[in-house]
Amino acid sequence: MGNAWRVWSVWVWVWVVVGVALSAHLHLQPEQQQQQQQLEKPDNTSLHTETSENVRDERVFIMLAISPDKCNSKDIATTFGTCLTSSDCKQRGGLSSGTCAKGLGVCCVITRSCNSATSLNNTYFTQPTATNNALGACTLTINRMNSNICQVRLDFINLELSQPDFDGVCQDDFLTITGGVSPAPMLCGLNTGQHMYYDLDPKGGAVKVTVDRSIAASLALTWTIKVSQISCDSKFRAPVGCLQYFTDTTNTVNSFNFANTNVFINNTRQLANMDYGVCIKRADNYCGISWQANYVQGRYGFTVTDVANATATNLIGTSYTSSTGDMCATDFVIIPGGVYKSDTNNNVPAKSDRYCGLGFPNIVTTKTQPFMLYVTNDQDEALDLGNRGFSLTYRQTTVCT
Ligand SMILES: *[C@@H]1O[C@H](CO)[C@@H](O)[C@H](O)[C@H]1NC(C)=O
Ligand SMILES: *[C@@H]1O[C@H](CO)[C@@H](O)[C@H](O)[C@H]1NC(C)=O
Ligand SMILES: *[C@@H]1O[C@H](CO)[C@@H](O)[C@H](O)[C@H]1NC(C)=O
Ligand SMILES: *[C@@H]1O[C@H](CO)[C@@H](O)[C@H](O)[C@H]1NC(C)=O
Repeated sequence: MGNAWRVWSVWVWVWVVVGVALSAHLHLQPEQQQQQQQLEKPDNTSLHTETSENVRDERVFIMLAISPDKCNSKDIATTFGTCLTSSDCKQRGGLSSGTCAKGLGVCCVITRSCNSATSLNNTYFTQPTATNNALGACTLTINRMNSNICQVRLDFINLELSQPDFDGVCQDDFLTITGGVSPAPMLCGLNTGQHMYYDLDPKGGAVKVTVDRSIAASLALTWTIKVSQISCDSKFRAPVGCLQYFTDTTNTVNSFNFANTNVFINNTRQLANMDYGVCIKRADNYCGISWQANYVQGRYGFTVTDVANATATNLIGTSYTSSTGDMCATDFVIIPGGVYKSDTNNNVPAKSDRYCGLGFPNIVTTKTQPFMLYVTNDQDEALDLGNRGFSLTYRQTTVCT
């Protein structure tokens, strides 16, 4: 590439940016700021100052150099930031963590706690600070960053609340998300590493994520939830209705509050009132998918019905304690078009869409698309003592007979 060409293309780029920045400034910026001032009530840790004309003008020029792209912060728990000027970051109640845009910007991490609001992508919702810590509802209000947002994704970087009661109901602590158009289950217990998609009406009202704690012991528990906003036309958008969405050719899907602990528990970790779909994106040139229980950390990798402490330990986690079809009426997973192999049947392939019990078949395969795992738990887990839920590993396959 010649020098003249390079100079010319840099100039074209600069003018395009000036154009975009000015039009954003003239048309979008005031509206966005007004919206922010009306709707955002940051918590006491983040001071929100009025924007003067001077600051706005300055911002237009600085925007020439900095586009508000995603950046990586220095913090391990809150790695996603937005590249902004340091004054912009401060004004939005963010925390500068590292630099970006060749040192001209800061990687701004937005963290919000109880009874605050955000219209910024990749906001981290966390427990209140020790001095603010109180029982009751702690709500983050999510305002759409623009009028083309169709989904919110919650990533539970860390989410530890108290365990459900004897019936698997989130009695003491719970997390809910409301204000969108898809139902989302109430969660409690340990959900670190889990995620959730939530469908929105792009023209609808605010979305609220609430963590409600009612017992003193919960004040010591913590959460960090990354909230990202997904455009209606984004390639990262999950198909409508998928509570969870996986795009890899192999991965492990855990039920909420799953822990493969061998420590004897009398009641259940499995949460009641679940009814959701886990969607797996079929990779190009793959035709099928197989599912196996993940017993890497112990034999409780698939314990969804029956009394675990009344069953011989060496049978738990084998295909002998797996149930299928009509045997599964209360809590079960559905793998549409499933063909399973079990020791009880000398691994002769048999068909079933439904699986439950204290073990999983040796393998379940299907060619039925889209690749789905449905999860159903009824309202009462009191008869399912010692259940942990499931940890199922899938693998997409290229050979389908
Ligand atoms: C913010 O400060 C006000 C007054 O100091 C106090 O009444 C309120 O409870 C605080 N809010 C939070 C979320 O701590
Ligand atoms: C928000 O950030 C995520 C990355 O966490 C990105 O994939 C998504 O496109 C962003 N949303 C918008 C509307 O820019
Ligand atoms: C669980 O049940 C066993 C047997 O009934 C009992 O000995 C134990 O104390 C119970 N543990 C808890 C934590 O309730
Ligand atoms: C299993 O746990 C329940 C609840 O604690 C208890 O009532 C029952 O006796 C236990 N069963 C066995 C076989 O230990």
